[in-house]
Amino acid sequence: MGSQPKFRILLSSEEIEAKVKALADEIRRDYQDKHPLLIGVLKGSFMFMADLIRLLDFPLEVEFIRLSSYGGSRESSGKVRVVQGLRSPIKGRDVLVIEDIVDTGLTTSFLLDYLQKKIPASLKLCALTDKPSRRQTPVTIDYLGFTVPNKFIVGYGLDWDEKFRYLPDICFIQEKG
Ligand code: PRP
Repeated sequence: MGSQPKFRILLSSEEIEAKVKALADEIRRDYQDKHPLLIGVLKGSFMFMADLIRLLDFPLEVEFIRLSSYGGSRESSGKVRVVQGLRSPIKGRDVLVIEDIVDTGLTTSFLLDYLQKKIPASLKLCALTDKPSRRQTPVTIDYLGFTVPNKFIVGYGLDWDEKFRYLPDICFIQEKG
């Protein structure tokens, strides 16, 4: 990629902030007495996870897992790998997975199967964004922020070839022509 692409704001930082607060309210209602384990999926979820957790004022633990399926491409290779695994056992825990986006669903579907085999007490999914038009495998999202159109989005943790994660808004890249 040569020159900086043109960005159009899809979800502003204010809209995101309000949605994260609403999601935190739902999660607090359901988990405040459960001492849950929140598992953030790196790297894309780091900003969402950080903002969400600051609003969850009850006992919980934080873990991260790093999966990879995209490499440097815009398209999923369809092959999911665990690049960095969990450091703590999840057997018997109430686990909530935190994702930035569910796109084809291949990553999340793999992860939920992988975690379910470790016998948590419960396993749910919170995703900031969902792109259902791209789905290749069904995924149930228990806590959803936004449904987004079939555009490549960046910002608020989401990257394009490792770039633009820093953008405070979620933007799509304006196609040329
Ligand atoms: C993104 C995102 C999800 C996954 C969703 O991760 O964070 O984990 O893709 O796509 P899918 O539904 O088509 O499987 P990515 O592999 O781009 O890595 P990153 O989080 O490090 O940017």
